[in-house]
Amino acid sequence: MPTNRQLKLARRPEGRVSLDDFAVEEAAPPALEDGAVLARTRFLSVDPTNRVWMRDIPQYMPPVAIGEVMRSGGLAEVVESRVEGFAPGDLAFGMTGWQDYSLLRPGGALGLTKIPSGLGVAPEKFLGVCGANGVTAYAGMIEVADVGEGDTAVVTAAAGSVGSAAGQIAKLRGARVIGIAGGAEKARKLVEHYGFDAGVDYRAPDFREQLRAATPSGVDVLFENVGGEVMEAAIARMNPLGRIALSGMIAIYNGQGGTRYDWAPIMAKRLKVQGFNLIDCAELWPRAARELANWVREGKVLAEETIVDGLENAPEALNMLFDGANVGKLLVRVS
Ligand SMILES: NC(=O)c1ccc[n+]([C@@H]2O[C@H](COP(=O)([O-])OP(=O)(O)OC[C@H]3O[C@@H](n4cnc5c(N)ncnc54)[C@H](OP(=O)(O)O)[C@@H]3O)[C@@H](O)[C@H]2O)c1
Repeated sequence: MPTNRQLKLARRPEGRVSLDDFAVEEAAPPALEDGAVLARTRFLSVDPTNRVWMRDIPQYMPPVAIGEVMRSGGLAEVVESRVEGFAPGDLAFGMTGWQDYSLLRPGGALGLTKIPSGLGVAPEKFLGVCGANGVTAYAGMIEVADVGEGDTAVVTAAAGSVGSAAGQIAKLRGARVIGIAGGAEKARKLVEHYGFDAGVDYRAPDFREQLRAATPSGVDVLFENVGGEVMEAAIARMNPLGRIALSGMIAIYNGQGGTRYDWAPIMAKRLKVQGFNLIDCAELWPRAARELANWVREGKVLAEETIVDGLENAPEALNMLFDGANVGKLLVRVS
């Protein structure tokens, strides 16, 4: 009889997350129900939003309750199925949670979805560049900001999973692209590896001067992942009638940082600001994922993964996103 290890939220973390914030329990795998598959988790997708879900604050989903298995997206293998079109051995995306076995059901953007085969792309890419992160980049750059030729686009957290995809998509659409990331090495990598036009280090003392030099004609599109001072510096460079695709604000997710933004520049420059979220992208997702997979296979979009082994290391892995210790998509290998 297999064992289902589960990490249940035991208390709400302050700042950094640790395994002590969770109760580690073992149970039998759940019994199969109609309309669901029983799936064994292979990889967990580690996402900044996991940290927000742990907090008891208003947000786009209910916070994870104390005593509940930590919510998470994951890549899982179907063990048993009562869903048409799904058979044992199939690989699927779903909200597995931080556990070995889960019941997954179709429905909505985050529901059970088969990982496409035959596209020449490794399955785990469908958690990152061909999955939630790439689709976020696609939605923000194309659907929200409608980036194109003649635009100068700035991407924050540009060396991460969403940001690196967003910048490369903007390049494919003909824009001039500047990425902002932490450290000279990441800033250089944006240019040398991902093909951005310039990389700017937000940790450098001359960050604002670097950004000004990299954007001599101002900024038309901002793909914002960070918030706080980095966002303020980018907005200060924006041209009148510019567009901001507000993807995320990682600087404030753990409750420790961030600033209150002064909206006057947005009014004065008549900027169009739109927040957006994957949970509204159920229709877009399959089309975007297929196009992203084609770009990845053709080498037009590059993506990397950082893999941490072991379910019990998921809490520490989450901290890596806030330390900038991940390169590309951060995954936890469970089995
Ligand atoms: N709207 C949506 O539906 C949606 C969906 C998925 C993700 N997102 C958002 O997209 C953003 C990126 O997510 P991801 O999964 O791709 O993570 P990621 O970019 O791969 O990793 C997070 C990165 O953020 C940077 N960072 C962390 N704290 C920071 C701070 N205080 N100031 C500046 N940079 C900081 C770090 O890079 P450095 O080394 O450069 O600091 C880190 O590597 C997040 O805001 C996330 O919430 C939105």
